Amino acid sequence: LPPSPAMSRPDAASLLSPSPPPFKPHRRGRLLPSILAVLAAAAALFLLAVLRSPPTPSPNLGSLFLSLGSNNTAASHLRALTLHPHVAGTKANSLTAAYVLHAFSSLSIPSHITPYSVLLSYPVHRSLSLSAGPGRAAKSFSLTQDTYPSDPYARAAAEVTPTFFAYSASGSVSAEAVYANYGREEDFAYLSSRGVDVAGRVALARYGRIHCEDIVHNARAAGAAAALVYPDPLEYGGSAGEGSFPDSRWLPPSGVQVGSLFRGVGDPTTPMWASSEGCERVSVEDAMATDDMPGIPALPVSARDAAEIQQVLGGAEAPADWQGRDGSPVYRLGPGPAVLNLTYQGNDTMATIENVFAVIEGAEEPDRYVILGNHRDAWTFGAADPNSGTAAMIELAQRFSMLQKQGWRPRRTIIFCSWDAEEYGLVSRSLFGHHIRLLYIHRIN
Ligand SMILES: *[C@@H]1O[C@H](CO)[C@@H](O)[C@H](O)[C@H]1NC(C)=O
Ligand SMILES: *[C@@H]1O[C@H](CO)[C@@H](O)[C@H](O)[C@H]1NC(C)=O
Ligand SMILES: *[C@@H]1O[C@H](CO)[C@@H](O)[C@H](O)[C@H]1NC(C)=O
Repeated sequence: LPPSPAMSRPDAASLLSPSPPPFKPHRRGRLLPSILAVLAAAAALFLLAVLRSPPTPSPNLGSLFLSLGSNNTAASHLRALTLHPHVAGTKANSLTAAYVLHAFSSLSIPSHITPYSVLLSYPVHRSLSLSAGPGRAAKSFSLTQDTYPSDPYARAAAEVTPTFFAYSASGSVSAEAVYANYGREEDFAYLSSRGVDVAGRVALARYGRIHCEDIVHNARAAGAAAALVYPDPLEYGGSAGEGSFPDSRWLPPSGVQVGSLFRGVGDPTTPMWASSEGCERVSVEDAMATDDMPGIPALPVSARDAAEIQQVLGGAEAPADWQGRDGSPVYRLGPGPAVLNLTYQGNDTMATIENVFAVIEGAEEPDRYVILGNHRDAWTFGAADPNSGTAAMIELAQRFSMLQKQGWRPRRTIIFCSWDAEEYGLVSRSLFGHHIRLLYIHRIN
């Protein structure tokens, strides 16, 4: 599937920003800037470590570091990591953990895998149908993303997990649709001010201002029985006539952005502590019943499916800033007469995730850490997010290892981390955070 900013959940930095900027078209690939950014950050970090490191820092180490290795090794790591979709908790993702472990250990950098058992979520059954009113003939949506002629990933695309929202409630809802713009609190307040009652209905909202977990949370707070979230061509389709991937960089009409609806951080069964073996846990039922969970069935859908729903919506015309791009049909608020029947059955189940760590011990301040990491799991192939970063990180480790062979030691301990299950809600980075805190408390190295 095409790597696109619209296809994956933004990272922690953008989670902090309430309004992610709509992404702008540019012609160059996204992979290279991402790799270069990680390399540049690490080079800066390395220079800092070297320059601050008495006695007699070797002036050659910085340029040596930059000149070592080749782009080919990073490219081959990226290729190996993205051959198959690798959702957290699956066999395919366990193989990527083994790959990263092997890459570090073959550089003679002490490394290990720390497994955790955490609550993850997978789709078992989904269906969605639309009718133009109660008793009218229904049209079923296929809920699949198209490949394109000569797509080199067409075969592997069949391994992709069906589009879903992790931790969505299971259930079946048949009700009138309401259009809720970006699904923000103010959008639901506006609907209410126009006399459009969302209670018991299916909210149709678009990505572009807030994250899916917040859209669904707001829909539920407004009384919606279920929610659909889609990427509107206004944000994800460029201008009409520009086309979509593979002819341009824009999301194809059948493209769906999956995500997690969990609003907390860490493993939902161990709120505020690490999921270590044998630790105390809340039950899966209790974890699924908290306010951090969506509590209603929800599905991500494509712009193509959303457009069909919008064409059957009646009611008042939506305001100008609720409309689509130039040339789109007029969006209306509803409710109805469009009736949606949404069925979702998920499997919220304990699964094993694996963090990979590699440690180069510091020569002078070994109990102070420079931590370099990114996550490894992906909703699909993860070419840009996250594995361009993983490939760059392994490349860095290789260069550090080459410097070590020339007698270099870092002043402080460098820890490389390949975290798991970020897509589900930063699960293991926060588990790691709990462990690091313990590490400090107990001064264990
Ligand atoms: C890697 O590729 C970049 C961008 O094309 C180039 O600037 C750099 O010199 C290359 N590095 C090596 C070691 O080939
Ligand atoms: C909704 O769809 C489900 C699954 O296809 C079906 O079992 C159910 O009868 C439908 N509900 C209504 C009210 O049409
Ligand atoms: C849910 O996942 C568990 C663990 O992978 C598996 O044993 C079980 O069969 C799954 N249940 C369903 C309904 O798919």
